[in-house]
Amino acid sequence: MLQKTSFLLEPVEKAPIAELRALQLKRLQSTLAHAYENSPVYRAKFDEARVKPSDVKTLGCLSKLPFTTKKDLRDAYPFGMFAVPREQIVRIHASSGTTGKPTVVGYTQNDIDMWSNLVARSIRAAGAKPGDLVHVSYGYGLFTGGLGAHYGAEKLGLTVVPFGGGQTERQVQLIMDFKPTIIMVTPSYMLAIADEMERQGIDPRKTSLRIGIFGAEPWTNEMRASIEARLNIQAVDIYGLSEVMGPGVANECVETKDGPTIWEDHFYPEIIDPETGAVLPDGEFGELVFTSLTKEALPIIRYRTRDLTRLLPGTARSMRRMEKITGRSDDMMIVRGVNVFPSQIEELILKQAALSAHYQCILSKDGHMDALTVAVETKPGFAIESESARAASAALAHDIKTYIGSSAAIELRAEGGVERSAGKAKRVLDLRK
Ligand code: DLL
Repeated sequence: MLQKTSFLLEPVEKAPIAELRALQLKRLQSTLAHAYENSPVYRAKFDEARVKPSDVKTLGCLSKLPFTTKKDLRDAYPFGMFAVPREQIVRIHASSGTTGKPTVVGYTQNDIDMWSNLVARSIRAAGAKPGDLVHVSYGYGLFTGGLGAHYGAEKLGLTVVPFGGGQTERQVQLIMDFKPTIIMVTPSYMLAIADEMERQGIDPRKTSLRIGIFGAEPWTNEMRASIEARLNIQAVDIYGLSEVMGPGVANECVETKDGPTIWEDHFYPEIIDPETGAVLPDGEFGELVFTSLTKEALPIIRYRTRDLTRLLPGTARSMRRMEKITGRSDDMMIVRGVNVFPSQIEELILKQAALSAHYQCILSKDGHMDALTVAVETKPGFAIESESARAASAALAHDIKTYIGSSAAIELRAEGGVERSAGKAKRVLDLRK
């Protein structure tokens, strides 16, 4: 029997703002009390900052509290941040990170239920209908993508194919045979799957897919337009991070596709100046910070995501939206003093009909100076030596200089010349170290 009711909006998604703020304050106060009572790490941090949970009387008081960073989680490796006894943890996830120990997160049964509900809400916001079949190509395992998507789709009463990442040829075969209507995957791996369809002589516009729920890495609106045209689907943005929960902290609503709506009844967002830590008003650009409002195993207070964006007013829902992420502060390249994000390069690449969205930014040293090379594949049918490919390369170099202010060498590569990833694409390769 189909669960019809689960496709209706929850009342909180349309709640008046005052009601939402009151709920957030109540939940914030209980989260702070729980963290202070049960997590030695938080107790020490609060004591050091000379604040008590009872000092937080309004949502604005949140700024009195210290930030939490990835380092806090690493220092408490593996289970030191948990605020419940290990026996009450039903699931562990971890993110590998680039250096050192992984960041470990844990969930109680209530946390898993809350997460599943929010991913179900996200999939519904993306336009899911009763009877949809969901092909999950996010990685399963310690990464939160696969299992997070999976539990949410099941919760919504949909049929789930837990494929995971990789084996691109077989992904295509099962998409053709099982006829999914929804795919959940990183946008860069979606492109690799579309390439494989074409290689097999399948028109990507003619599959059963209707909706793609893409996240886990930055992707631009230009990339959205390109994916939608190529696959004839709605491409919707899902955002999340393991330290805060996993996928489904925020999700775009298909009716507006104007940046992910933050599920504010469970996560309170702030934007701060990444240099000073000062809280910035809504609409200003800075680093996104989250405080969990209902988590049990790992309450997280003022977590610095390093993701750069702005908070925008609600449109399809009462809750605020975040602008599509421009990039992580970690991915920002400084080329001869100019700040450059891979997403800015992506926007300009996609203006060129001869170039594909498979690209990588390579940083190297030219004497004492930084040098940026953009390696990008030409689209099938455009040989790298062809007149049109050369013209696209010149136009791209010109646009990068004009719109970003940085010189870049363009290296055209044939199809398959830029490394594919079955998960998050590696957009920056820094050879300077
Ligand atoms: O990537 C969780 C996730 C899985 C989200 C599947 C969406 C879909 P982490 O591995 O901890 O968790 O990486 C979190 O990925 O801080 C962002 O920098 C980036 N990120 C995630 N979603 C988006 C998005 C998962 N929609 C980090 N747009 C975050 C841009 C994203 N960046």
